[in-house]
Amino acid sequence: MAQYDPQQYMADLRRVTAERTLALGHAPTACVVTFGCQMNARDSEKLKGVLQEAGFADSESEEADVVVFNTCTVRENANMRLYGHLGHMNSMKREHPDKIIILCGCMMQEPDEVEKIRRKYPFVDVVFGTHNLYQFAELLLRRLQSGRRVVEVWEKERGIVEDLPKKREVPWKSGVNIMFGCNNFCSYCIVPYVRGRERSREPEEILDEVRQLAADGVIEVMLLGQNVNSYGKTLERPATFAQLLRRVCRVRGIERVRFMTSHPKDLSEELIEVMAEEEKVCRHLHLPLQSGSSRILKAMNRRYTKEDYLALTERIRRAVPDISLTTDIIVGFPGETEEDFEETLDVVRRVRFDSAFTFLYSPRTGTPAAAMPDQVPAGVAGERFARLLALVQQIGSEESGRDTGRVLPVLVEETDPKMPGRVTGRLSNNVMVHFPGEETLIGTIVPVRLLRSQGFYYIGERA
Ligand code: SAH
Ligand code: SF4
Ligand code: F3S
Repeated sequence: MAQYDPQQYMADLRRVTAERTLALGHAPTACVVTFGCQMNARDSEKLKGVLQEAGFADSESEEADVVVFNTCTVRENANMRLYGHLGHMNSMKREHPDKIIILCGCMMQEPDEVEKIRRKYPFVDVVFGTHNLYQFAELLLRRLQSGRRVVEVWEKERGIVEDLPKKREVPWKSGVNIMFGCNNFCSYCIVPYVRGRERSREPEEILDEVRQLAADGVIEVMLLGQNVNSYGKTLERPATFAQLLRRVCRVRGIERVRFMTSHPKDLSEELIEVMAEEEKVCRHLHLPLQSGSSRILKAMNRRYTKEDYLALTERIRRAVPDISLTTDIIVGFPGETEEDFEETLDVVRRVRFDSAFTFLYSPRTGTPAAAMPDQVPAGVAGERFARLLALVQQIGSEESGRDTGRVLPVLVEETDPKMPGRVTGRLSNNVMVHFPGEETLIGTIVPVRLLRSQGFYYIGERA
């Protein structure tokens, strides 16, 4: 890596921002707009941390002086959303030529998209990718000093850089990256191409971060990785995710531990044991199925069969009976027949997920599936999607009410935006509960009696 002094860039950026503050009479504002998954959301906290440290005032509005779009490209509609926002930015920038527009994140790792932005969106000021996120301060400074557009995207990852400031969305919970990238190359998925090879952080570094968060008042952490179950395999001293999870649970002050995402092929018996034994591990497992057809799963390169998946969920349910299982399912993968789709419905009926994210297959340039024959016509896929969604919702609403009448701990997240005097929180299994309460409860765990189920959430009262 070239000589790199982030402190110096930050100091220079702070000076430039301070001059701007004097000229404007107030601090310039910055808004970060996030698309995509929790991994991107965590990256956005780092972007906001840098902006805050540089002296920008945080803003929720795209009218801000600096607007950063942290992009996603997992499905085509994520890309369409960005271009929609850019349309608005174009007209805003005509009125405010000083406005700075920055694009980063997964979509910027695609050379075709960057080329399109270069040609058709000349008003975009800075472009960088996922691998050089930590250069943010430097790139923004370069743009401000030179007045010229800055485009810098690294093709490959270069290790892990840890020391960015981070601005948490809420004081009591935080995501924690435990690994980056993905080596699975599911045949439909672009993530391994835009996030690079799998790298795990050292357990000690993760634990230090969790201890620091706990000292700052965080009580819930979400351990983040594209496939947390393969955590630690690439470390010099290999460790397992189950071991890490146990150690995170032992950190004093941390009350709840969640994690995302689990790949069924790597979910170990050791992890099931830790989930059963450690009370702080939330009673929720997101376990993407993708398809219930073993034939399609093979074409997807998922490396498990329908039977493997069913057996795994049975083992988990036996060990952790009150667990809530949720999933991701893709409809209309190339070559999917009506019979294949019926297999998916069959798994949904048998496992009875509390909820499921359902996606229409979206071909991603450069992935093997995009070049497969027998792409499913949109009409057929749409009709299957509607059937799946109806089933998932019906089962979800039946399952989500199974704790009615019980008293369970709820972590209060916010005041109910629709009902003054009520607050909203989550059960350990991630289901939402609304109940009468004060703002002062936010960020604390209180026992709540679940009076009735409203489909996907409960109405309760303090017990
Ligand atoms: N690493 C996670 C998923 C990350 S992407 C895992 O392996 O489970 C989140 C979800 O997007 C995936 O689970 C999948 O259901 C969906 N997805 C990914 N690529 C897709 C595509 N090309 N078309 C439709 N859905 C897709
Ligand atoms: Fe994509 Fe598969 Fe990696 Fe998940 S495990 S990010 S679906 S390649
Ligand atoms: Fe999207 Fe990148 Fe996440 S493509 S889903 S933001 S890893």
